[in-house]
Amino acid sequence: MRFTSLLSSWLALSASLVAAVPAFPHAQATRDVESEYDYVIVGSGAGGGPLACRLAMAGYKTLLLEAGGDANGNVNVSVPGYQAVVTQDPTLRWDIFVNHYKDQNRAKRDPKYTYELHPYEYHVGPNPPYGAREKGILYPRSSVLGGCVTHNALIWITPHKRDWDIIANLTGDESWEAKKMNKYLNRVYQWLPAMPTDPTILLRDAPLARHLVAGARAAGLDVPVLTPLVRLGQLLLTSPNSRLNPVRDYTEGYFQVPLTMKFGTRMAVREYIQETVAAGHPLTVHTHTFVTKINFDTTSGKKPRATGVEFVEGQYLYKASPLHRTTSGKRGTVKAKRQLIIAGGTFNTPQLLKLSGIGPRAELQRFGIPVIKDLPGVGTNMMDRYEIPVNVKHTEDFKFPILDGCHFDLKEHDLCLKQWLENPYILGARGAYASNGLASMMLKRSDFASSKDVDLSIFGGPLNFQGYFPGWHDFSVRDHGYFSWYSLKAHSRNRAGTVELRSADPFDQPLINFNYFDEGTKTDGADQKDLGALIQAIRKSREALEDWNKFPILGGTPFVEEKPGAKVQSDEEIGQYIKDEAWGHHAACTCPIGPDSNPMAVLDSEFRVRGVDGLRVVDASIFPDIPGVFIQSAIFMASEKAADILIKEAKAADGVELAEEEEEEDLIIGE
Ligand SMILES: Cc1cc2nc3c(=O)[nH]c(=O)nc-3n(C[C@H](O)[C@H](O)[C@H](O)COP(=O)(O)OP(=O)(O)OC[C@H]3O[C@@H](n4cnc5c(N)ncnc54)[C@H](O)[C@@H]3O)c2cc1C
Ligand SMILES: *[C@@H]1O[C@H](CO)[C@@H](O)[C@H](O)[C@H]1NC(C)=O
Ligand SMILES: *[C@@H]1O[C@H](CO)[C@@H](O)[C@H](O)[C@H]1NC(C)=O
Repeated sequence: MRFTSLLSSWLALSASLVAAVPAFPHAQATRDVESEYDYVIVGSGAGGGPLACRLAMAGYKTLLLEAGGDANGNVNVSVPGYQAVVTQDPTLRWDIFVNHYKDQNRAKRDPKYTYELHPYEYHVGPNPPYGAREKGILYPRSSVLGGCVTHNALIWITPHKRDWDIIANLTGDESWEAKKMNKYLNRVYQWLPAMPTDPTILLRDAPLARHLVAGARAAGLDVPVLTPLVRLGQLLLTSPNSRLNPVRDYTEGYFQVPLTMKFGTRMAVREYIQETVAAGHPLTVHTHTFVTKINFDTTSGKKPRATGVEFVEGQYLYKASPLHRTTSGKRGTVKAKRQLIIAGGTFNTPQLLKLSGIGPRAELQRFGIPVIKDLPGVGTNMMDRYEIPVNVKHTEDFKFPILDGCHFDLKEHDLCLKQWLENPYILGARGAYASNGLASMMLKRSDFASSKDVDLSIFGGPLNFQGYFPGWHDFSVRDHGYFSWYSLKAHSRNRAGTVELRSADPFDQPLINFNYFDEGTKTDGADQKDLGALIQAIRKSREALEDWNKFPILGGTPFVEEKPGAKVQSDEEIGQYIKDEAWGHHAACTCPIGPDSNPMAVLDSEFRVRGVDGLRVVDASIFPDIPGVFIQSAIFMASEKAADILIKEAKAADGVELAEEEEEEDLIIGE
């Protein structure tokens, strides 16, 4: 079949996979300007999307406002193997720039430090041309139906129990206890498919498998030298999420990586929203609608009450979009009868709250914003994980067989895409693109872990991933002879990140400072402990590369370490490499839930913004502590919990009798 007809038949099929894909009319908003909804939700990502679906499914008239488009028919979104390609897609990406360090001289030690030459044209690395403007480090975000879930790496690792118990302890609200949160994971599995890469796809590439068995060995598992693939096949069947394993959170070892996909096609929040609309539930979705302000009623003499929002309709209005041309469009307002929920994500939620008068008084006044509620915690407490790789290059023009014919560019010569399109139903037959390229991982507990839970996840894959910068995807896959182990520090301790206004213009991106390592939290040696864990992760990655020598039976040429490089050996040298080049992509915690007694708590334990009525926040910003190893699962579960709370609240307000709750605590539905 011709490539183009393959593409179009796939489009028809993908439409049928999500029941029916309705096209959301962008201009629908104008008609509805005057009308009221029970709930208005700003942002359709991990936090806002599932919540909107649940509220509509419970019969409440719900409006979901999303700055981005619906990405219908965009193959970049659907192909797991394009998980990096899609982050470069100009139609849905926001180029957010952040500071890992405020000290710019220090920040520039990172070869990923980026300058702007002309709008959205960048120079990466040292020696920028004259006149280039300092931008900082790229932090990929996506503005599209489904939010960052629509461009993320699909990795599905459920939270640790302790993540929830921390919130219960902090607030005294027992409904956050892990055993009570279990039922929300069941609910997520009602709409979320998750499955690992088919092991047969990997096992066909012996030199790649050689690295993966070496990883298993470094992870402490016994791998027979003569029949390593049999053992690897078994390990790749082991899920890191099993709720049947009572000590799962502490279990070190080597695992498959479950992905949010169905038959090798990305499927998560975006598709769930579309299915909910198609099923006829009262969910209205306005894409290409950018919310600029929350409106409050301050006349009642009681607490100010959020009544709705102001918005502007149009594409690419936010200046972080590389397709941005204008901030003008049709303006409108809409009212929320019951509650307004902000779910714009870790950077945009605090920005919108501040622009609307909720935040630290001094900062708001500096920008001439009338203070509705002085809430000093908004935009503070930001946490992220640290990530850092060891990258090696094989010698003698070696290329990993699995990447044969993979061009990652949607063109006719991209035979891996052709294979993926031709085999829509058989995971094993879809080839490399039915995987995100990172198919197995070690879970480790470092000597510096803050609890019994594992705190390091070390992934391996045939790519040269060195972190995010403009063009990072093209760079990572240019040469098919690279392999990387890259480490992620879970349960990191730094909470010194901030999101501050750059201006009072809602279309400007905020000023984002992570204040990494010793620029951030140092209590009880926090910075040194996180660094220490990562140094161990680098050593563990190198051990896996050493163990590669034990499996010559699998073939492949020798390799040379490029990053951090053979010269980087002492703890001090490795530590410096990590401080210079580590990055993150799970930013969270900027509107933390906390106890009444903590003035820095932005939300109460039921997602209410403190000091005002009618306003909730439900997204990655709600956590007091960054949860788990990967974050989307925790956000989905929190979103399900928020839905539960709001529906009960609405029923109580309407005097509707609540149904007897079934005991769901010990039930395990899904993994
Ligand atoms: C490259 C990358 C890879 C990742 N990979 C993984 C992974 O493999 N596994 C994992 O668990 N996590 C991963 N993550 C993290 C995860 O996807 C995010 O943490 C999660 O999506 C955040 O959810 P959220 O609801 O807070 O915000 P988002 O998902 O970012 O959603 C926010 C939405 O709000 C919209 N919005 C913002 N402001 C406004 C406004 N003013 N008006 C209207 N709309 C607005 C935005 O357009 C966006 O669609 C990854 C993240 C990135 C960037
Ligand atoms: C997919 O993303 C690439 C950038 O990585 C872009 O060039 C291409 O136009 C995108 N395709 C679609 C269909 O949007
Ligand atoms: C919560 O508090 C209990 C009782 O004080 C304590 O035993 C437990 O360790 C705490 N859990 C967490 C996660 O902080």
